[in-house]
Amino acid sequence: MIITVKKGVILDEKADAIILGQFVDAKYAHELVETVAKEDGFKPALGATLSVRTVGTLPAKRVIVVGLGDKKKFTDDSARLAAAAALNAAKSVGAKKIACELFGSAKAMAEGATLANYEYGRYKSETKKKSPVSFDFVTDDGRVLRVAKDDVALGTLYANATVFARDLVNTPALHMHPASLVECAKELAKGKGSIRVKVYDQAALEKMGAGGLLSIAQGSEFPPYLVHMTYKPKAQKKNAKRVALVGKAVTFDSGGLSLKPANSMETMKCDMAGAAAVLGAFSVIAELAPSAEVHGIFGAVENMPSGKAIRPGDVVTVLNGKTIEIKNTDAEGRVTLADTLTYATRQKPDAIIDLATLTGACVVALGEEITGLMSNNDALANKVSSAAKDAGEKMWRMPLPEEYRELIKTDIADYKNDAPRWGGSLTAGLLLEEFVAGLPWVHLDIAGPAFNERPVNAFEKKGATGHGTRTLLEYLRNL
Ligand code: BES
Ligand code: MN
Ligand code: ZN
Repeated sequence: MIITVKKGVILDEKADAIILGQFVDAKYAHELVETVAKEDGFKPALGATLSVRTVGTLPAKRVIVVGLGDKKKFTDDSARLAAAAALNAAKSVGAKKIACELFGSAKAMAEGATLANYEYGRYKSETKKKSPVSFDFVTDDGRVLRVAKDDVALGTLYANATVFARDLVNTPALHMHPASLVECAKELAKGKGSIRVKVYDQAALEKMGAGGLLSIAQGSEFPPYLVHMTYKPKAQKKNAKRVALVGKAVTFDSGGLSLKPANSMETMKCDMAGAAAVLGAFSVIAELAPSAEVHGIFGAVENMPSGKAIRPGDVVTVLNGKTIEIKNTDAEGRVTLADTLTYATRQKPDAIIDLATLTGACVVALGEEITGLMSNNDALANKVSSAAKDAGEKMWRMPLPEEYRELIKTDIADYKNDAPRWGGSLTAGLLLEEFVAGLPWVHLDIAGPAFNERPVNAFEKKGATGHGTRTLLEYLRNL
């Protein structure tokens, strides 16, 4: 879908559908719409839509009215949602040429429309209805027009990065092996002088001593890789920040020998969503052109049971020389992140942000729509939280209680990889903290929001959401 911004009067637009925003208690823009809304008892609650045939009274064939709710409560989140709901309504009546009034932030609206238009069609034999040919924002205000053009470009960039992540996560593990993620990183760097990619294969990981990745990958037919992407700004400033983005990249999490029950495994192709968000951000990073040097790092593995698989009770030595007793092979993410976080600290970053579909406990605590944020640094935690808020991704800070650290201790090794059920996200976070060498760090447990088992809103339907991607971009843009 191509989104443009043009000067004009929305009611004069010749289109399959024109979209008008409607606040509660506001006057309707056209008599026909007002009549139909009254007769149908339409209430302009946020995201509610009304489709009106114009039968020749306007140049457009239809008007889609989208509720904007209470004007005093209207935010960028509302604009994103309303644009998404309106696009869905327009598509559902087969509109191909759509014109839309600018009723809020053009960036948020472009995001909402693009993300709502997303479909994962790779395995559908029937060709789906084509997406709308055009989506034009219309305004008669020249000043608004100029700002909107930049905003739409930025919103489209954010949405495209999110879509990039969604496609990776939606791809079944049959076609998404550790090596596929390596290919993806190489592919996105092609032709971009500002991005370098370094790949460590199994032999290199053995030499390096990355026992976390190697041990979890043991049960799989597919070897592990550590991928390190580096973005360098064109004209690097003297005091430019260096940031490391780390993603969990388990291409399928069967649980290993501590096998998951069948239904818990159904969505476990999503267990590389952390890396997908990092790759999504890197897919547009050259265009975003942040002033910071950015490192994107992930350790790709598949967690499978087999005669070669790691066993409960085994002890592995990870990259920083510490040992972890594997109590439960299904707590594999933290073991792989022990290596990848250690590797990240060696780049001497000013900040580390990791994203991981790490614990079911986090989904129990915060539900499917909210990410658990943990951090050893209040300033960084606040920066990431505010980036998340601006990006429209819900995150909530959770503690890393020192008192719980003893729960990840064991008599046979330095740490163990599981802990009592209660507070499971926090003990996982505490283990990760052991591998960041005291550097400012934020851990995002995205186990809930990464993958929707039900449609959550107008632009996050069933399947992968790409959650985290836009927060990363917003964080980088503000550096
Ligand atoms: N990948 C899962 C966590 C997960 C759960 C992601 C639900 C997305 C949705 C992780 O590797 C895992 O299995 N965690 C275990 C840890 C436990 C064995 C200590 C869990 O949460 O049950
Ligand atoms: Mn697991
Ligand atoms: Zn996992």
